[in-house]
Amino acid sequence: MNPALSQIGQQMSQLTGVRAIMKDIIETLRLNRGQDLINLSAGNPLILPEVEQLWRECTQELMASPEFGQVVCRYGTSQGYEPLIAAVVDDFNRRYGLNLSEQNVLVTPGSQAIYFFAANAFGGAAANGQAKKVVLPLSPEYTGYGGVSLMPHTVVAYRPRLEIFETEHAFKYRPDFQQLQIDDTTGCVIFSRPCNPTGNVLTDVEVRQIADLAVPYGVPVLIDAAYGPPYPSLNFTELVPVFGGNIVHCLSLSKAGLPGERVGIAIGDRDILSVLEAFQTNACIHASRYGQAIAALAIANGALADVSLNVIRPFYQRKFAVLEETLRTALPQDLPWFLHRGEGAIFAWLWLRNLPMTDWELYQHLKQAGVIVVPGSSFFPGLSEEWHHKQECLRISLTASDEEIALGMERLAATISQIYQDASTYSAGQQWQISEAGMRP
Ligand SMILES: Cc1ncc(COP(=O)(O)O)c(C=O)c1O
Repeated sequence: MNPALSQIGQQMSQLTGVRAIMKDIIETLRLNRGQDLINLSAGNPLILPEVEQLWRECTQELMASPEFGQVVCRYGTSQGYEPLIAAVVDDFNRRYGLNLSEQNVLVTPGSQAIYFFAANAFGGAAANGQAKKVVLPLSPEYTGYGGVSLMPHTVVAYRPRLEIFETEHAFKYRPDFQQLQIDDTTGCVIFSRPCNPTGNVLTDVEVRQIADLAVPYGVPVLIDAAYGPPYPSLNFTELVPVFGGNIVHCLSLSKAGLPGERVGIAIGDRDILSVLEAFQTNACIHASRYGQAIAALAIANGALADVSLNVIRPFYQRKFAVLEETLRTALPQDLPWFLHRGEGAIFAWLWLRNLPMTDWELYQHLKQAGVIVVPGSSFFPGLSEEWHHKQECLRISLTASDEEIALGMERLAATISQIYQDASTYSAGQQWQISEAGMRP
């Protein structure tokens, strides 16, 4: 059967960004089953025993309580399960000295739903017909933002400034406030902090500057804290969440061990949340109450924040250290490789300046060498302009054993070194520079 699709049907039946290449990765893994192939592409967090145990204990507590029937045998409100909302309000007020009330919280089925609701409630065709954009102030960004709008060409991203630490083989993206445009054509602003795929953490000053730009136009700014504190606390650098005014602080419990239960939490102004809540009622009524109920227990007794800080963060931070150390040992000094500062999340982001092939071609070479990573060009949703950098990066997942990460990076280093060496433009000892041509040393 081939049902006719509406415009929205066409838009939403396409997979964006990294999801489009997952098909190739799954096929490669299937065909090479039993082979020595290291998969460093996954975005799915690992199951950590302490985290699984926490959710098991919360489930046992819920099952033994008289509340169980209320949780699973009844519908609830679209705003969310009341004990979870109360636990979040208490925890955030105490932790960050806020003055939140229950009205400032909305629970959704995963945080992706928050961005979907916001992108379509505030972005797209306005009541007066004007096209309102969903602005991503920094690119590369979370590939899932590429698919959030029901209208094509609504998501727009801005090219960043690059802060390069040449001798350290490191770099960091910065928002380019000379270019960034937030005005009456903007419906809402979204960015991840820490960022998937780069691990970048925007500074407090940068966050305030973005939020302030949006204030005069009444534009909501959604800060995606899927990797932020206090859960899952996957920030490796200091990060103080920013609240208030037009900012909607968005949590996800997916990297805190509950991706299957789909729990996202938006914290912000009631007028903004009311719009998202009504959208949610129309779309799916509410999030699963079982996930919300066990989350309420783990937040109220402090166990979730504790396991985040003492188990989840050190686990992935150590993985990043293994990756970085291996690359530093295995990649030649005179090769123009740059690792993004590892400030958080569960990925490393590698930039290969003047790479003599595209990231897709490199991905194929790496598969041959027995290591799967994700080509970086999948991570520039909304950035349509030509920019060679988009084809020069790779995302490397930290969701593997230390041994696999180390071996994977050795293979990657050997492959990359060979590729640069084979390129006629490379000779040992020559320093590579950005040139106008973009490909020449
Ligand atoms: C930056 C970022 N935001 C949002 C999401 C979606 O998370 P959730 O499972 O809460 O929908 C992810 C998932 O990987 C992510 O990396």
